[in-house]
Amino acid sequence: DASDFPAGDIVFMDRGDGNTALLHLHGATLISWKCRGLENLFVSTKSVFDNKKAIRGGVPIAFPNFGPWPLGPQHGFARIKRWTVDVPPTKDANGDVLAVVSLEDDDETRGMWDYKFKLVYTLVLSEKSLKSTLVIHNTDTKSLGFTTLLHTYFRVSDISTATVAGLEGLKYNDKLTGGQDVAETRDLVTVDKNYDRVYKDAPNVTVLSSGPEPARKIEMKTFNFPDVVVWNPWDVKAREMADFGDEEYKEMLCIEAGKVVTPVTLTAGAQFECSHTFTSML
Ligand code: BG6
Repeated sequence: DASDFPAGDIVFMDRGDGNTALLHLHGATLISWKCRGLENLFVSTKSVFDNKKAIRGGVPIAFPNFGPWPLGPQHGFARIKRWTVDVPPTKDANGDVLAVVSLEDDDETRGMWDYKFKLVYTLVLSEKSLKSTLVIHNTDTKSLGFTTLLHTYFRVSDISTATVAGLEGLKYNDKLTGGQDVAETRDLVTVDKNYDRVYKDAPNVTVLSSGPEPARKIEMKTFNFPDVVVWNPWDVKAREMADFGDEEYKEMLCIEAGKVVTPVTLTAGAQFECSHTFTSML
């Protein structure tokens, strides 16, 4: 809850009726999204909140690189930098709540990746949905290239009941076996072991269902995110992660919208907008 954190570290959005969102400024990591009081995001009980390490759970932002990165930390620096509040939570005429945070290059980022940029992250909390829009501005005088992804850790009541719709017929790269362009034949994807798959050219809607108590059905609609990563560390990898509980793999599933297979190139002054919207369908 918001009261667990120093007020200066978080942005708390409250639409009323138990519809809330909580963003940590370390990494602009969304750490809670509740619909009618029901939490839909997973954050590990072992996550470290030291404003240094990436938060284990919620929605960390991978930028300017998804995956291992020769120039800096895995998944880039955006998730471990302190972001700035541009617009604190503000209600619009419909009662929806908007907040905007941003990150600009500094000596540390240019030491890894020598480009000037600005990231603007806008959250809009409605009654049953939360839209997160990331705009990447090239503020430099030269072109830059990047991959990016919103690394969502959804909470599920029991991984054995979780299904993901919307991936049938897609090709995926399996990061664990090295398999390339494997065809997904299932209309409902289930996860029963360590998964690390990058689905390519996905349609813009996936639906995660789980239950029975509490039942959840969450649609994720994307814009300019052609790839979807499905990740669960399962038991052995869970034990190897210091900031993840041994049994917690049963309570989460990562479904990550990204632009990761083909990087984006932005010419000087150009921008790229991408977003995902979660909607509770129940
Ligand atoms: C996933 C990657 O998106 O993130 C996995 O596909 C990776 O390969 C996982 O293990 C977690 O990464 P990290 O850096 O947060 O431990």
